[in-house]
Amino acid sequence: MAAEKQSPTAGAPAEEAGSPLHVAIVMDGNGRWAKKRGLPRTLGHRAGVDALKRTVSAAAELNVRWLTVFGFSTENWSRPAAEVAELMALPKRYFETDIARLEREGVRVRVIGRREGLSAELVRIIEDAQARTAHNDRFFLNIAFNYGGQADIVDAARRFAAEVASGRARPEDLTEQLFASHLATAGSPPPDVIIRPSGEQRLSNFLLWEAAYAELVYQDVLWPDYGHEHLKAALEAFAGRDRRYGALAADDVLAAG
Ligand code: FPP
Repeated sequence: MAAEKQSPTAGAPAEEAGSPLHVAIVMDGNGRWAKKRGLPRTLGHRAGVDALKRTVSAAAELNVRWLTVFGFSTENWSRPAAEVAELMALPKRYFETDIARLEREGVRVRVIGRREGLSAELVRIIEDAQARTAHNDRFFLNIAFNYGGQADIVDAARRFAAEVASGRARPEDLTEQLFASHLATAGSPPPDVIIRPSGEQRLSNFLLWEAAYAELVYQDVLWPDYGHEHLKAALEAFAGRDRRYGALAADDVLAAG
């Protein structure tokens, strides 16, 4: 259903057994999509924003509650200046058209990643989107922007080290849970499934800590073409996985006596 017609959360039933709560997506393939059409890469990125709008609606329709998408990595700064400028303009492009609807429909928006390097205007736009939706709790949209999994782990380590240095924590207090509470994703459950369209099969520094037990689904579609049917197919692939979290499968437990 079109993003404009369908509320992301309208009538969203309680999570069905087997549905993932948290889906993360590496939105990849904008450049190739544009190239195939003889268009500049910038138009691929703009088409990527439209795919994001469709996918937020599709996620809510498919009973997902958390969606985390990779919009700009700490490594993307090495792209040509004109492309970086276009990528920097995407949050404004998205929020200008969609923030009122997201706010109305119960979506909480969080932009995770470093603020350093972003323009003052972009930081203001991000803070505004977060503040406007801070009271919402029906659907959680995390946009990773100027984000890198390694950078986020370093930032979390720095925050904890500062607590130790000031006497508010001791090194032996640190557990996996406490460490995770210092990451940019604190408050979100870890992703159940990480999807990468475009045929590439790697994480590219996305949610490195959080990915520990995520199922990985790779799809042969370029991000600007992504929509409801692709997300549905990815969730079906996920539903067929046997998640064991390091333990034995149920059959093997019985066989082991
Ligand atoms: C990777 O594809 C994609 C990006 C670097 C940008 C992704 C951003 C969007 C889809 C829009 C995000 C919207 C907001 C609101 C931030 P690529 O350019 O590397 O594609 P290629 O591998 O085909 O060249």
